Amino acid sequence: MTEQQSQPVEERILRLLRRLGIDRAHMAAYLPGDWGGLLERYPSAVASLNLICPRGVKTEVLRPHARRVLIVSGDGGNGVADLMRAVDDLPGVTLTMLRDYFSRMWADIMVDRRGEVRSAMLEFLALRDDENPLPSVQLPEGEGEEAGISYTVKGTGPPLLLFPLGLAASQWDPLLPALAERYTTITVGGRYVGMVAFLETRGPGYLRAVRTVVDEVGLEPGQTVLEVGCGAGTVARWLARYTEKRNPVVGADINAYLLREASKLAAAEGLDEVIEWRSANGEGLPFADGRFDATMAFTVMEEGDADAMLAQLVRVTRPGGKVAAIVRSLDMPWWVNLPLPPDLRHKAQTGMGDVVEGGCADASLYGRMERAGLKDVVMLPQYATYASGERLQQQQERMASRLTPKEAEEWRQAIAAAGNQFFISQPFHSAVGTRP
Ligand SMILES: C[S@@+](CC[C@H](N)C(=O)[O-])C[C@H]1O[C@@H](n2cnc3c(N)ncnc32)[C@H](O)[C@@H]1O
Repeated sequence: MTEQQSQPVEERILRLLRRLGIDRAHMAAYLPGDWGGLLERYPSAVASLNLICPRGVKTEVLRPHARRVLIVSGDGGNGVADLMRAVDDLPGVTLTMLRDYFSRMWADIMVDRRGEVRSAMLEFLALRDDENPLPSVQLPEGEGEEAGISYTVKGTGPPLLLFPLGLAASQWDPLLPALAERYTTITVGGRYVGMVAFLETRGPGYLRAVRTVVDEVGLEPGQTVLEVGCGAGTVARWLARYTEKRNPVVGADINAYLLREASKLAAAEGLDEVIEWRSANGEGLPFADGRFDATMAFTVMEEGDADAMLAQLVRVTRPGGKVAAIVRSLDMPWWVNLPLPPDLRHKAQTGMGDVVEGGCADASLYGRMERAGLKDVVMLPQYATYASGERLQQQQERMASRLTPKEAEEWRQAIAAAGNQFFISQPFHSAVGTRP
């Protein structure tokens, strides 16, 4: 990794703010990777922080600034009890609960609960502005890029930086008109922020699991590949490199924002001639029967009707071709390589992640593939290991955020004691079947 690529996201955001002539801005975000470093190292740049259905809360980082923090959260799902505990530990924080709402990573929050999020944010921002007025900025509307961060400016008023919202299909779009009436909104994107950064940091641990599956498929030069649910194109780009551009790849996804990012990343790597990006729903693919030699869906079937997706993959694969799948595994424990007491180990290693009704995140993958008509299904439960870097940090923070303060202290001591032996392994089920 070059020095330029390894620059932390907070430095990139700071450079962007400087370029736009902004010292301080309101900010709204979803993933802690986007705001954690900023608040820790450059707190004066953050006028307020609006966390929308956040995935992970860095309590220690937030605590000194809790009065300038709004948390909007659904009241459903595994993470709510942990969030409530974090909120108890953040005196002064403002909390808005969305009733009867479970915001999964792929929920389209601004479509689902636009009115409530709008009111919560606008009221909170107005209060912060009354308390500590933020000067307006005059910026031309349009797009730009600085330090690897792409941005789009809309509206006038004090600056409001909008980080990406998970896998949400619509991102901030439904709320932008209301926000842009009172604020200069700066919507940021690119490989270093949001879900794109999150997906990119899964390699090489995750890509090793992908390689096992792809090797099992055994592509011949020239054979065509479809990757459904390609997201930011992490796997499709890896595949193009791995096969030395000998296999035309179609990356298909339902999410326009991620497809845009995928296309830019592939072009930057000179891989655009071998990968074609298509907007498509995996439950009803717009391709002819038998169109591909191999089809793949990696960590996608958790998010929709897994059987419908498999049926489509089988349909568009030629007879004799291969269908490959990887799903996160809620039925296998994670492995945390730390000297932990049994109860704490159990708590850290289980209950991570979720799945929609009809989705697949367990060993039912193997039976589903057979029922979809595939033969010779090779079953490959696997672990992706994160032993250093950003992903290890993200996963350990995610686990730590689910612990009580006493457990979190034990956790920190165990990490210090483990030294270089500390790693976290994430379980996956994966399989390759042959279309008869
Ligand atoms: C966790 S990401 C995985 C991305 C990529 N496969 C990888 O391994 O890096 C899941 C992706 O599946 C996409 N997705 C979810 N449901 C889908 C559907 N019904 N059709 C197509 N894509 C879908 C999401 O938009 C997201 O990009």
